[in-house]
Amino acid sequence: MSSSPAPQRTVFLNGSFVPFEEAKISVMDRGFLFADGIYEVAAVIDGRLVDARAHLARLERSLAEIEIANPYSIARWTELMADLAARNGLSEGLVYIEVTRGVAERDFPFPPRDTAPTVVMFTQAKAILASKAAETGVGVITVPDLRWKRRDIKSVALLAQVLAKEAAAKAGVAEAWMVEDGHVTEGGSSTAFIVSAEGTLVTRPLSNAVLPGITRLAVKKIAADLQMKVEERLFTVEEAHAAREAFYCSASAIVMPIVSIDGAPVGEGRPGPVARRLREAYLGLAREEGALDSDFA
Ligand code: PDD
Repeated sequence: MSSSPAPQRTVFLNGSFVPFEEAKISVMDRGFLFADGIYEVAAVIDGRLVDARAHLARLERSLAEIEIANPYSIARWTELMADLAARNGLSEGLVYIEVTRGVAERDFPFPPRDTAPTVVMFTQAKAILASKAAETGVGVITVPDLRWKRRDIKSVALLAQVLAKEAAAKAGVAEAWMVEDGHVTEGGSSTAFIVSAEGTLVTRPLSNAVLPGITRLAVKKIAADLQMKVEERLFTVEEAHAAREAFYCSASAIVMPIVSIDGAPVGEGRPGPVARRLREAYLGLAREEGALDSDFA
């Protein structure tokens, strides 16, 4: 992904598909002023949306938690996402969705009820199937978790993650694992997993402390199908250092093997078999029409 936006793009803005250059948002948008909005990111592989229904169910939940009315049904969202991907000729990459509380004179409480939410969608091309990082494995660093207490909501208030991931970039690694009270919460934009000496997958249970990851759900299901044991419990940085394997997962990274934590090798310092198998199984299902349909309740 290059750092300046590719101009030859169609984006979705407030009910219309418009050229990138024409998609403008007011300076009074509450997403801009207060980070008063929600987002979602779903992958596209072979030109098809991956696990979109679950991502849209989570979008609906996030919106409800902050009292923004969902502007579309899940079926309509799905059509709009697919239409946008097709208009952009997207065969592999991401669809980004953002819904904010809309445009109103700057004032903290909610604006009048009839204020229309701002709805934005754009696509980003990204190699997902052939990922160099997944072949070599990546490093992570640990950083303090500086976020608010409702991390289960996919809020666009991402400053803590921006700082965490910039620290990772400065350290020359791919992701930052955020730590609270000695325990790993999650990655800056991913769910954290370790594989214990016994081969058990360990990830943090869902609570307000972490985002309920859609890829996490799929990984749990795949692991069970592969007869792998999954334990949902807190784990410490020390446990992660001693783990046989570690990986993170998200819609954009799928399953990403971790080969070092804070500069120290994980296991043998190369991608492990568990992460590899999970990644392959996930991608196999993602390429099969309707095979990945996580049940996000
Ligand atoms: N991030 N935890 C956090 C804090 C995240 O931001 C994400 C996703 C995840 C993984 O969720 P999922 O498996 O549903 O993608 C966990 C997206 C990809 C992003 O911000 O770009």
